[in-house]
Amino acid sequence: MKRIVILGFFLLLHASLIAEKKESAKPSAVTKIGDAAPADAPVKEIEVSAKKYEFAPNVIEVPAKTLVRIHLKALDKEHGFELKDFKDSCVRFKPQEPSTVEVYADKTGEYEFLCCKFCGLGHGKMKGKLVVK
Ligand code: CUA
Repeated sequence: MKRIVILGFFLLLHASLIAEKKESAKPSAVTKIGDAAPADAPVKEIEVSAKKYEFAPNVIEVPAKTLVRIHLKALDKEHGFELKDFKDSCVRFKPQEPSTVEVYADKTGEYEFLCCKFCGLGHGKMKGKLVVK
């Protein structure tokens, strides 16, 4: 009888650990940068990975008037994504915690983005650009 109770206890413990694991896999947060997009703006989804010391892809081209949704994934350690001309736009993300940023690419031009979380000696070189045509 005692054995069954102990076994039951471990089964419960195991089940609660699994439940906790599932809960920690949250959907990634979305950070909106710049002006709000009109409701009917076309959406472009892009996956961007980050590792020491590069973004891939590091050039993102979109047509003007597109809502760009960038899914950020860190491959090695924590990095950041910041659109240089947009104040307070830094978003940090870790290997187990991807993040998403939304930018309404209203005006044509080239917008530099950079890593905004110190990640090592090459941190300052970790850059890319959003090209709006
Ligand atoms: Cu990546 Cu700093």
